[in-house]
Amino acid sequence: MGSTNTNSGVLTALASQLRLSATLEINELVQQRLAKGHKVVHLGFGEATFPIQQNVAAAHREASDITSYLPVAGLMKLRQVIAKFQSRRLGTAIRPDQVVIAPGSKPLLFALFDILQGDVLLPRPSWVSYEPQIIHAGKRVFWVETDEEDRHTITESSLEAAFKKGISEGGDPRIMLINSPSNPTGQAFDQRVIHTITAFCQRHNITLISDEIYSDITFSKEHNVSPCSGSQLNNGQKIMTGGLSKTYSAGGWRVGYAVFPKNEFGEKVQDAILAYASECWSAASAPAQEAAAVAFDTSPEMDLYRSQVVALHKRCTLALYQALRECGLAVPEPKGAFYVYPSFHPYKTELEALGIETSQQLSRWLIEECGVAALPGSVFGEDDAGSLGGRYRLRMATSYLYFQSHAERYESGYEVLASASDSSSTVPLPLLNEAIQAIQDAVRKLQAVA
Ligand SMILES: Cc1ncc(COP(=O)(O)O)c(C=O)c1O
Repeated sequence: MGSTNTNSGVLTALASQLRLSATLEINELVQQRLAKGHKVVHLGFGEATFPIQQNVAAAHREASDITSYLPVAGLMKLRQVIAKFQSRRLGTAIRPDQVVIAPGSKPLLFALFDILQGDVLLPRPSWVSYEPQIIHAGKRVFWVETDEEDRHTITESSLEAAFKKGISEGGDPRIMLINSPSNPTGQAFDQRVIHTITAFCQRHNITLISDEIYSDITFSKEHNVSPCSGSQLNNGQKIMTGGLSKTYSAGGWRVGYAVFPKNEFGEKVQDAILAYASECWSAASAPAQEAAAVAFDTSPEMDLYRSQVVALHKRCTLALYQALRECGLAVPEPKGAFYVYPSFHPYKTELEALGIETSQQLSRWLIEECGVAALPGSVFGEDDAGSLGGRYRLRMATSYLYFQSHAERYESGYEVLASASDSSSTVPLPLLNEAIQAIQDAVRKLQAVA
């Protein structure tokens, strides 16, 4: 205790740049406002909240007395189940020994950035944690600009421009990361864009990391497209990551995985990741891995659960999207996951009259004046000095709009899930209605600033 000196002499230069993740920060802000008795519509945190599928929950309970460390690469039963699941999805044979389990896909992504050579090409906007992870691994980020309307589509010229910029600034772009469906945009690549990206990576010998944590939450088949499908995984320098957190509402259990190609590149990277894991996290939690081995199963029960989860995310996310559109905001139609990414730039004059010139200021105004928590586009790499669309973007997550409390999640959650299979049923989602109301009120407030 005692010394009030700053970090000098304590932290490394890289560690001094670390900040609490923006998603966790907004969660704390919401909790503070709730504790003071304010009402908050929480659209700031992308945490899936459906009840755990019953067989998965039972497997976790039954394994609670397994306290031994599991193998570094993960429980063989789980690796087999993931290999089977991905073989079915990707239409190619994935072997269990190509799969590595970890306590979440986040540490796996960090480990990959840490061990692979070169700087990273990242689409703008991208999930909040990639950029800090890349910087902490001592690498540089070179942004790939995306379509102004949907903030997701990438063209050959935007890829080449980012690559050239990297080289001309003395960088060494040798890794690219993509995330489809995307956090924050809710957009998903189609086959044409995936082809553009894979051809570009092949041309420049770039390793492609495909973060597919939301790949089972797509609103139509044509958007469940992977650069690792068919023979593509084993023929190239590609690594796929995924996990239990989103489709199965089990983020806190911390189970993620990576799939490596069966080739010289894949074996080399996989060996390094296993060595890294053995020195860093040892293994993911045993009960959680036992539960995950049930969750990723291709059984009819799990297929049903997955389809119910997708149907609900689709219903809720598209309803919010529609309401935002009707409010006059510029918002692309989500194709998957549980995010909407509106821009308030149609209200530029009103915002400027309120002194709001950045997405950060907009997000503050929205939570403080209107009780709506949403993340600013700037934490996803949007440039406040850039285009208007980027300056006034917010990311809204719909995943907290189902249940008021943990108790309600389990009292009515299975009924809500079951209702998703019945297209004629419309189980009410009062939190969704409240969110829409709060946003409509916020827009009315803006319109009143003439
Ligand atoms: C795009 C994306 N990738 C990866 C993760 C990390 O997921 P986990 O570490 O829980 O597997 C998240 C979580 O929010 C995410 O949104």
